[in-house]
Amino acid sequence: MMKRFHVTTFGCQMNEHDSERMKGMLTSLGYEEADQRDQADLILFNTCSIRENADNRFISYLGEAKRLKSEDPARVVGVGGCWAQSVKEDVFRRFPFVDVAFGPGQIHRLAEFLNSDSLTAQGYFEFEEFAGDLPAHRARPFQGWLQISQGCNCVCSYCIVPSTRGREQSRDPLALIEEVERLAADGVREVTLLGQNVNSYGRDLPADTRIRFSDLLRRVDGLEGIERIRYTSPHPKDMREDVIDAHVELPALCEHIHLPLQSGSSPILKKMRRTYNRERYLDRVAMIRGRIPDCGLTTDIIVGFPGETDEDFNQTLEVVDQVGYDGAFTFGYSPRRGTLAAEMDDQVPHPVRKERMAALVELVQERAKQRAQRFIGRSIEVLVEGPSRSDPSRIRGRSRHNKAVNFDGTAEPGQLVEVEIETATSQSLSGSERLLSGIGV
Ligand code: SAH
Ligand code: SF4
Ligand code: F3S
Repeated sequence: MMKRFHVTTFGCQMNEHDSERMKGMLTSLGYEEADQRDQADLILFNTCSIRENADNRFISYLGEAKRLKSEDPARVVGVGGCWAQSVKEDVFRRFPFVDVAFGPGQIHRLAEFLNSDSLTAQGYFEFEEFAGDLPAHRARPFQGWLQISQGCNCVCSYCIVPSTRGREQSRDPLALIEEVERLAADGVREVTLLGQNVNSYGRDLPADTRIRFSDLLRRVDGLEGIERIRYTSPHPKDMREDVIDAHVELPALCEHIHLPLQSGSSPILKKMRRTYNRERYLDRVAMIRGRIPDCGLTTDIIVGFPGETDEDFNQTLEVVDQVGYDGAFTFGYSPRRGTLAAEMDDQVPHPVRKERMAALVELVQERAKQRAQRFIGRSIEVLVEGPSRSDPSRIRGRSRHNKAVNFDGTAEPGQLVEVEIETATSQSLSGSERLLSGIGV
């Protein structure tokens, strides 16, 4: 009987990517994927700790893992990712049924553990180089991730990531190009470059190999078979002209930028240690809008950071209204262990946070819906992902602007097609495939 694994993933795209690598590695070790946790010999969780509710969600799953382990003690329970890194060896004291724990990116350690003689509690929490040579078991054959750097050198006062992912470490540009070449040869058409601050890429590399983020984009754009390039996230403090111009020059680089705002108030940005202010942020937006016609713009916003007054919050609303984002992720501030902001004594009461959140979400949606109307009547390029979630007789895909598009047609996953847009909401566009002008098929 083949051994079976199950991986449950929480958190951001980096964890998604790590989970794909975990699955690829386990497959090459002779394991098979199980559909459900209770069918697996190896139960893995890839965890996140970005906000308190991320922790809580994961802990609620651990109860089930404990029961499954007691039913069959030969089962192995493993916990990887940012939560694991943030509690380290403590995990074995708090959850004695956990057999192995490892930090983000340390997938290869899991293999080491599985190949070792004694499967007793072991933790792997050193920060080390990203293992780029693991085969990824991709969710969709035509989309791939490329992790260009690990860790983060910023010190945002609310954020746990620098402590869970360590100092910023850029990967060697040649290794990255080779990885994309392999992806392209394997059928990937859309690649997403990942990093906590992608546009500081390369600054830590030795002078003889150092290239800028925009140079890396250019090299990836030049590769045969790669038709779409995305990246996340750039930091507004490091968003420079060369990256913005790359969007204009490079045919594969999509017209979408996710530019995290966090707050529209300069005093709050200062307390957050974001190192840009409202004016600098708006200046970046003006440059993007001026040079990249029709660019999709999305953002992250934190509501209720310690000390946020009504006036500060109104400034956030003002920026949201002024910029007119195509979409935004909005988060209630959550104090994280070991961060500066968690020690600040002017925490915003929960009801106030809730009220502000509701007002923000309403404005975000209203502006996103208005912005989306610009697509009506236009024919736009869509990369087909699969059947529509709400109506499986229709097809779902994504535009270059990163809008979800549901449409009537016959296209298959992985195809690039032209879709004529008929209606638009804040979340998605709807239309019909233009049958005669399928491109790149
Ligand atoms: N490196 C990325 C962010 C990664 S975390 C960047 O700087 O853009 C993703 C988002 O989670 C952040 O942009 C922020 O909006 C949110 N976030 C991070 N820590 C948080 C906290 N303690 N409470 C609420 N939201 C938080
Ligand atoms: Fe966290 Fe700031 Fe680094 Fe993003 S840039 S990961 S928010 S410390
Ligand atoms: Fe979560 Fe770690 Fe990503 S805390 S959001 S999994 S970097």
